[in-house]
Amino acid sequence: MKKSILFVGAEVMPFAATGGLGDVLGSLPTALAAADRELDVRVVMPLYSAVGEKFRSEMKTEAVFTVGLAWRQLYCGVLSLEKAGVKYYFIDNEYYFARDTLYGQYDDGERYAFFCSAVLQMMPQVNFFPDILHAHDWQAAMTVVYLRQQYSADPRYAAIRRVFTIHNIEYQGQYDFYILGDVFSLDNKDKETVAYDGCINLMKGAIECADLVTTVSPRYADEIMSPEYSHGLYHVLRRHAGKVCGILNGIDYVYYDPETDPVLAKNYSASSITGKRECRSSLRRDLNLPDDPGTPLIAVISRLASHKGLDLVEASLRGILWDTGAQFVVLGKGEARYENFFRGLEHEFPDQVRALITYDRDLSKRIYAAADIFVMPSKSEPCGLSQMIASRYGAIPVVRETGGLADSIHGYWENDGKMMGNGFTFANYDSGELYERTCAAVGLWRDTRRRPRFIKKIMQTDFSWNSSAKQYIALYERLA
Ligand code: GLC
Repeated sequence: MKKSILFVGAEVMPFAATGGLGDVLGSLPTALAAADRELDVRVVMPLYSAVGEKFRSEMKTEAVFTVGLAWRQLYCGVLSLEKAGVKYYFIDNEYYFARDTLYGQYDDGERYAFFCSAVLQMMPQVNFFPDILHAHDWQAAMTVVYLRQQYSADPRYAAIRRVFTIHNIEYQGQYDFYILGDVFSLDNKDKETVAYDGCINLMKGAIECADLVTTVSPRYADEIMSPEYSHGLYHVLRRHAGKVCGILNGIDYVYYDPETDPVLAKNYSASSITGKRECRSSLRRDLNLPDDPGTPLIAVISRLASHKGLDLVEASLRGILWDTGAQFVVLGKGEARYENFFRGLEHEFPDQVRALITYDRDLSKRIYAAADIFVMPSKSEPCGLSQMIASRYGAIPVVRETGGLADSIHGYWENDGKMMGNGFTFANYDSGELYERTCAAVGLWRDTRRRPRFIKKIMQTDFSWNSSAKQYIALYERLA
């Protein structure tokens, strides 16, 4: 019998996204649908004002009804469109979602309480009760809680299995108990379920109520059992350890493909990497950097937040620039401290450094293609997609061994003349180790005999969804 899955999440590529969650929700459903024709895969997200006209003009209205949430009765429209074998639902309520950013609003708790209630109340309206509800991160956590706490008397809902995926445990959705009833529509009998550390914790509630909890790499699944990585939730996770597992993310191999990517100056592939040089020259021309073929280009593409390991970059970069003569390009924005550091460095090293303090997806792909070495020294990293994209575009990754970075990148060594590994890695959160491994990567790159062999090898590492989609399917089967 055909099995059905409803993905619930706050951002989905290409409709509206700010980070890795959007990448995953934009590519995993399609990969599942392609891997198993017996799966009916659907996705639901809010209809933000950021969702463009191009998509809106393709949508059809599925239902208009009133969502009950505590004492409020709220307008809800459900629109839909289909793309590559997946049906997408959009929850429309302009009061909540016609805002200028996806998150960071004063009433995010209420906005996502509405979204989660709407997702459950839309099911009879669109006549679709999935076999599995798969919720992602804290914004979708309440669907899992409501389903178990408030809908179990109705057999149509009681049959739905609940999967919750943690993309980043740092963001849990924490609120004062004061709004338990009025905003979240929970009563005192539900309080224990969502209570943690003196407040409402939505992620904790979902961990309690889910049949299975997954996270985005096996290593991160281990790490979040410890105080160091769990941002307080390790007690809860340890209690539920039997239902927690990690599955490594993949990336969209169609969107991220140097062989066909329309934004590159020249396309190339693992079997013919010469176009990569042209991509680097073209970026250097645009950034007004000298284009010496013997000078490697190091890149960082990241949110400029300290858990991304930027204090290590700050402490080691001058040494790397002096000692290797390499060039360095950073793309991203975030904390003022790092934005200022990189801008300052551009003045200090006018022929070597460019600070692009912005978000730009097309530009990011041009940088992945131009870069020889890609640095990602995160303090913690649930999965990380950039190291995979960098590999696909032939930039040698230098990463810290944490979370998904440790599961996807393995340190280079040679065995009987055979090159092993697919990057450079270091264990301790230490700027000396970052300096040393980055210089080692430059050393390998300067070895013109080994360089093309290694680049070809890293480009051929499989970071597609193929194997992970199969693991999700096995998980769903175990549940059903
Ligand atoms: C979050 C994590 C990142 C992960 C992404 C997709 O953004 O911080 O490591 O790759 O989610 O799961």
